[in-house]
Amino acid sequence: MQADHRSGMARIEMDNFQFIDGSWVVDPDAPTVAKGAKVPNPPYEPKIFPPRTYYDPELNQRETELFWPKVWTMAGRVSDVQEVGDYFTYELGPESFIIVRSDADTIKAFYNVCPHRGNRIAYNDIGHASDFTCSFHSWQFSLDGELKRITDEELFHPKVICDRPGLKEVRCESWGGFVFVNMDPDAVPLLDFLGCIPEHFAPYNLENFRIFKDYEIEFNTNWKTAVDAFIEVYHVHSLHPELEVLAETKRCQHDLLENGHSRTLVPEGLVSHRVEPRPNELNPALAVMLRQYGVDPADYDGPPDNVREYLIPYKRKWGEENGVDFSKLSDQQLKDLWNYHVFPNMTLNITESVCIVQRWIPHATDPLKCTYSVQTLFPLLNDPSKTLLDITNQATDSEFVTMDPDNRPPKVRTTDGMDLGYVLNQDIEQLQFQQKGIRSRSFDGMRFSYQEVRIPHYWAEMERYISGEK
Ligand code: FES
Ligand SMILES: [Fe+2]
Repeated sequence: MQADHRSGMARIEMDNFQFIDGSWVVDPDAPTVAKGAKVPNPPYEPKIFPPRTYYDPELNQRETELFWPKVWTMAGRVSDVQEVGDYFTYELGPESFIIVRSDADTIKAFYNVCPHRGNRIAYNDIGHASDFTCSFHSWQFSLDGELKRITDEELFHPKVICDRPGLKEVRCESWGGFVFVNMDPDAVPLLDFLGCIPEHFAPYNLENFRIFKDYEIEFNTNWKTAVDAFIEVYHVHSLHPELEVLAETKRCQHDLLENGHSRTLVPEGLVSHRVEPRPNELNPALAVMLRQYGVDPADYDGPPDNVREYLIPYKRKWGEENGVDFSKLSDQQLKDLWNYHVFPNMTLNITESVCIVQRWIPHATDPLKCTYSVQTLFPLLNDPSKTLLDITNQATDSEFVTMDPDNRPPKVRTTDGMDLGYVLNQDIEQLQFQQKGIRSRSFDGMRFSYQEVRIPHYWAEMERYISGEK
């Protein structure tokens, strides 16, 4: 072990991990240009953060008016609009949008609002249309959003309809197989907004992933209360102790990225360093990981902590056999789970063979409600009968499953958190109690550890939008 002091924080080296300024460095030898290299932390202001943002209707209104209309948010998957006329709807606070493939090369997004008297145009989550007809008085619009027909046009004074009002368009751009929308016509392009994320994700070929599971559930919490719980791993040992048998819960690398984004690199295929004494035996969860890549656990005679290194060549072989290109993934990407917060309300937990996509949508008016959606995406395999590992119930209950790439599963709206697996249910159950405590007159505010700095990091970015700086 080695220690020095930088800005008052210890720098410690232990078992190939480094601890600098409150964050572990998963791969200290990585060159600074490597995708997994530690990003130096910006200055951190130690203070107690007032909790009003989690419940105050006025602050919520400020977000509705000044924040959400200016920021890119993920609306859905390109794979849901593959054919001309395919569309899906996307709700964001008080707004609703239609995302449609209007021609072979174009995906467009419109406010889901009829220009006649404001009715919603599309009610379905997902559908196919040759044009859009409002169900109220049957005005009709092309897939391009242009007004095609006004029913009984002679009933209108020409002045009322002389602008031939069509569906109002919003910015719509794609990355990684995701469609994003932005209500601000002057917003920077999506790829600029995403900063380094597209470069970090390029080796995974996320555009080739398809939806295996799609769930949605209402939370009785502010959307930020929920996001916060999914961008820090400080709680994992306490809320999800089951995960300690296969993933690091302490020595994780937190990186604050530009534009409010951030990430945590979570070493997988080892026993968490919170566990003492260090185990010598392989546990069932690590055995499942080995089996996933064709290794018989009986043939593995290394220490449990070495599974992550050991599996690298087996993962590369699995990729080749299944027609999934891992050639550009670094060893570090193959070893670990990388959790990205795509500012402001989306997280991506990605490994070479699964991506868990989570999104939190603010309620239209109530700061104490939000809608949580979680999708499991798998890469397309050359043979769909081959199995993948569904890690929703990671640890011993992980299930080997197959994905039919031609059958997109329906979105399941549920009220039972257990439908999402016991790990996510643990988060869901806890969140409602936290939201209640935050509201207490006795609560002073948030005291963030260095392992929770991703939270004030994105708040600061939100404030830049709300103040008009961005
Ligand atoms: S509100 Fe749509 S046609 Fe009347
Ligand atoms: Fe959690």
